[in-house]
Amino acid sequence: MSRSAHPAGPRHADVMPEGHYTAPPADLNALDPKVWARTVTRDEDGAVTVGGIGVTRLAEEFGTPAYVLDESDFRARCRAWADAFGQDADVFYAGKAFLSRAVVRWLKEEGLNLDVCSGGELTCALDAGMPAERIAFHGNNKTAEEIERAVTVGVGRIVLDSFQEIARVSHIAQRLGKRQRVQIRVTVGVEAHTHEFIATAHEDQKFGIALAGGQAAEAVRRALTLDGLELIGIHSHIGSQIFDMAGFEVSARRVVQLLAEVRDEHGVELPEIDLGGGLGIAYTSEDDPREPHEIAKALGDIVTRECEAAGLATPRISVEPGRAIVGPTAFTLYEVGTVKPLDGLRTYVSVDGGMSDNIRTALYDAEYTVALASRTSDAEPMLVRVVGKHCESGDIVVKDAFLPSDIAPGDLIAVPATGAYCRSMASNYNHALRPPVLAVRDGAARVIVRRETEEDLLRLDVG
Ligand code: LLP
Repeated sequence: MSRSAHPAGPRHADVMPEGHYTAPPADLNALDPKVWARTVTRDEDGAVTVGGIGVTRLAEEFGTPAYVLDESDFRARCRAWADAFGQDADVFYAGKAFLSRAVVRWLKEEGLNLDVCSGGELTCALDAGMPAERIAFHGNNKTAEEIERAVTVGVGRIVLDSFQEIARVSHIAQRLGKRQRVQIRVTVGVEAHTHEFIATAHEDQKFGIALAGGQAAEAVRRALTLDGLELIGIHSHIGSQIFDMAGFEVSARRVVQLLAEVRDEHGVELPEIDLGGGLGIAYTSEDDPREPHEIAKALGDIVTRECEAAGLATPRISVEPGRAIVGPTAFTLYEVGTVKPLDGLRTYVSVDGGMSDNIRTALYDAEYTVALASRTSDAEPMLVRVVGKHCESGDIVVKDAFLPSDIAPGDLIAVPATGAYCRSMASNYNHALRPPVLAVRDGAARVIVRRETEEDLLRLDVG
């Protein structure tokens, strides 16, 4: 997933032909600001601190494993996106990356909107006070109950994903005496350069309605005739963890082409386009993500240019970044339990979490880095694999990384860039208790999602 280069490393290279590791960094104690949240640094004793609080104190007070989120970094990233896109565009944070009621309040305060994709996310958003008109409701198979609720509370838009749903939402809205603002999600036929499971704009997958073969044009035709719908625009999301702007540009161009066709056929200029989320972040030092202002400029330029060429007024643009906002703002703090050197291979460092708190390595072959967090060390670098405590050999958190060779049980280690799609995809595999999310800011830490307890597990098991 990461674009990290994979040259042979200096240790065990002869027995590790498939190694994904780079050479050890010049300074193992250094924390690359690209992959760590903004307030992360080391204190005078060498321990990692975030928001002015050291990890040892966090571990003592809240236990491990724990997701540690830098609140001021989260808020700063929200503002950077909002400022980059300005008054004439809308930024919807994609709640699937990580959602909690505290996060919803931060979004609200920082002026962002919210994309939800299930009844559960909608409940969280509304409960924390996000105004319904600032919510977009997504999903390829929303239930009738979810649609009814979304229409009843008055979400700002429902993104329609199939012909059945076009009819279903209109029917429900009419029954409720409402006219629902909707967008149609189209697949533009772009092969996004990312993992197959998170690419969404090629034709052979479950999301959206294809532009190819006139299907999207037919969807617009139907939506425009239905009384329960107010069609406000077209939506395209091409995939996730993407670095290359070319895919977004092709997508924007094709969406504008559809707007022009709609104008020619129906005499209607749809006022909005949504270009989705998907912007990549740095999981390792090899990744070079784009800044929000570069993305805003690239997308704004292409849409303006294409609209001018087609004689269309420029529509209002919206985007839906999830990972790019929350991903870099958190790290996972683990305690080392065992250190097992495998002669001639590598050393396995086992932590007190694993695939239940970060499934991304097992699922997408994702790359992460790791740092010794409770202290610094001058010991030689050692090639390690950081693994969890689950009953599965694929239970890997960090495939290949370097840690100091004196790493020992009781040390705290931290894996950066785990803010997105880690807690939100966490599981109870092996009856693991999902870790808490700690928000740290200005020298204060608070739990925003508490650690699960064994009582929580038993509560669901009705015996
Ligand atoms: N908008 C739509 C319609 C989406 O489907 C998604 C992500 C986003 C926005 C936000 O994408 P982001 O900016 O966060 O990349 N579990 C995978 C990622 C799945 C993304 C699903 N949709 C992972 O861990 O990489």
